[in-house]
Amino acid sequence: MIKSVRGMRDLLPPETETWNFVDTEVRQLFGLYNFQEIRTPVIEDLQLFQRSVGEETDIVYKEMFAWQDRGRAESEKGQWLALRPENTAGVVRAYIEHKLWDQPGLRRFYYVGPQFRRERPQKGRYRQFYQIGAEVIGPPSAGSESPAVDAEVLEMLAALLDRLGIKDWTLELNSVGCADDRRRYNEALREALKDVVGKMCADCQRRAQTNPLRVLDCKVAEDQPIIEKLPRMSDYLDEKCQIHFAEVQKILTALDLPFVVNYRLVRGLDYYTRTAFEFTHGSLGAQNAILGGGRYDGLSEALGGPAAPGIGFAIGEDRLVMTLQETAKAETRPVDIYVVPLGAGMNVHAARLARRLRRRGLVVVSGDESFRLKKSLETADKTGARRALIIGENEVNSGRFAVKDLSTGEQITLNLEELGKLGGQP
Ligand code: HAM
Repeated sequence: MIKSVRGMRDLLPPETETWNFVDTEVRQLFGLYNFQEIRTPVIEDLQLFQRSVGEETDIVYKEMFAWQDRGRAESEKGQWLALRPENTAGVVRAYIEHKLWDQPGLRRFYYVGPQFRRERPQKGRYRQFYQIGAEVIGPPSAGSESPAVDAEVLEMLAALLDRLGIKDWTLELNSVGCADDRRRYNEALREALKDVVGKMCADCQRRAQTNPLRVLDCKVAEDQPIIEKLPRMSDYLDEKCQIHFAEVQKILTALDLPFVVNYRLVRGLDYYTRTAFEFTHGSLGAQNAILGGGRYDGLSEALGGPAAPGIGFAIGEDRLVMTLQETAKAETRPVDIYVVPLGAGMNVHAARLARRLRRRGLVVVSGDESFRLKKSLETADKTGARRALIIGENEVNSGRFAVKDLSTGEQITLNLEELGKLGGQP
């Protein structure tokens, strides 16, 4: 038997109804903030992620599905490609490629789609997972650097979680400063790590060399007391970054939006500047980040575009749906009518009637003329249908059909006109 590939999973009904419910709510709410949908390809040039997410991040270094494509000629080697591990890089690439900065004001995009990371699968962590994300990007003259944008994005997220009925989330917030601040902070970290790194895990030893900031991400218990004593980013923010971070917090406080400042929150992607955040949820276990995001003020330039500061986030939809499952908001629409074709030649009539009823908005399932009445009614019951509509030769000739209410057993006779008025959703 061929099975699904490790880390890839099937989303099955009725759970898919919950996914659809989430997507619908997202589209409605994001629309109120003037976000518009963008769809970028799942395959991109590998360099896009090396230059944005960063070559030294776990995502690019360890977790990419990447391969060298075939060239045009049989013998020729082609371009290095990758399945996207995230969507911010693709959105910024599209922003540059299509000169979307040409239009006035800030651009607000959102996306919903699969992302791919070759991580060790576990609860809440898959190799194909889905993100709902959004990005606000634009020239500085349009106000793209304003802390008000950061606060608005965070407020939208809180509104979404509220709307979905998700409670008990925690917003963790930090500022990772601008590129200069981080350079100075990285040096300080490197210096401080020199004496202690020998006692740390193998990953930290590598990170201390290549990307010391990542050390703060380490989850190994024995390393925690060492990390607690390392210098803090907050002491290396320049004045502008300090003011920016203070202003974001001021607006959030004025909006009664609760948050905690977590000075160790550095995120797993290199493009971040200034505001970085995550929303966590207790019920999720080890993979408790329901979403993450932040500013990326230099990303457009790093990808060859104009200055276009931006901020965004991505929600792990798999994890979001997990938190929703207990409340199970979405319900599958019940079957209104189960059509029972009784006797040879009746499938044709059943198909015609079913089409007619569906066009009137009813959920219709059809049986088969080879079934006997008893089997048909049993099947109708199993599909959860509210009514069975019986179609035999007499019914077709007279234009009057027996409709049986499957919960009460009551049977009535209706003509075509009356059938159409049976009503859809309860
Ligand atoms: P990220 O923190 O790498 O950020 O991913 C965002 C969210 O995606 C995570 O908080 C988590 O819920 C979900 N996620 C990540 N990996 C997996 C996985 N293997 N299985 C299930 N869920 C997962 C980004 O991707 C940035 N692009 C976010 C962003 C947008 N920053 C600015 N704009």
